[in-house]
Amino acid sequence: MSPTAKMLWKAAVRQIILLATGERTMQYPKELTDALEFVWGEGILSPGGPEEVEQMLEGIDICGRRVLDIGSGLGGVDVLLVVQHGAAAVVGIDVEPQLIESASHLAAKKGLAERVTFQLVTPGELPFANASFDVVFSKDTLLHIANKAAVYAELLRVLKPGGWFVAGDWFWSEGAAENAVVLAWLSNLQLKFAFTHPADALQALSDAGFTEPKVTDRRHELLEANRNEVALLEGPVRQKLAAVVGMEMAESRLASAKGRQAALESGALIPCHLRGRRPT
Ligand SMILES: C[S@@+](CC[C@H](N)C(=O)[O-])C[C@H]1O[C@@H](n2cnc3c(N)ncnc32)[C@H](O)[C@@H]1O
Repeated sequence: MSPTAKMLWKAAVRQIILLATGERTMQYPKELTDALEFVWGEGILSPGGPEEVEQMLEGIDICGRRVLDIGSGLGGVDVLLVVQHGAAAVVGIDVEPQLIESASHLAAKKGLAERVTFQLVTPGELPFANASFDVVFSKDTLLHIANKAAVYAELLRVLKPGGWFVAGDWFWSEGAAENAVVLAWLSNLQLKFAFTHPADALQALSDAGFTEPKVTDRRHELLEANRNEVALLEGPVRQKLAAVVGMEMAESRLASAKGRQAALESGALIPCHLRGRRPT
């Protein structure tokens, strides 16, 4: 079997496994994604929205580049990468089939179905040949993945020599696993996280073979964004959000934003930007 046929065969087997187990592993059901999108904008599931994407990419020109987005969610970020940042093409991958479907609809609605495509994957090896992408991007997804060494190695493998890896990710401080404020926040969430420390990420990037590895602490900026989110959810949009997703989900989003606020203020939760480059 040729390497390409082997890769396609593996991808097909993965899809079957995922379709068979997708319902059980779903972490982002529609009522949650509707609520997140309501706060952050069309197709966006993570804090900071378009401004945060812009800051992640500061100094890195993706114009005309082929980009892989790890954890594309509803696809809003992928549309931004093309429309606002000029990427030639974006391939978004995700582990939840309903998100891939919604993201594909969004790209088609924006007239970008040719340039912004989405692919369902299972966690682990990426279904792409070596050196397939100029840039690997990821926003607020790597915190869901436990095996950081394996994921960084895969990201490096699919990058072209000289290509950039750019990500937004969340970490915690020493002792945060026993911190009452963090535990209270996590106890209200259905999401599974695999937090490490920022210093571990820097080391892991370096160990994987990235040059120019960099981890930038974004607590100050995300604290500000989080304060705005709490104020919004407590005030002007409370009733409107409840009308879209129900009062229970609206209240749950507010509790989550307040819990995240407390965790950020305690210094235990550390949002960061990550960068690294594949050696030429
Ligand atoms: C917080 S959402 C962020 C989505 C998108 N990046 C955004 O900012 O709107 C995290 C996403 O990561 C996806 N995800 C979780 N584990 C993954 C994995 N191993 N590979 C790819 N995507 C994954 C989830 O399904 C979800 O869509």
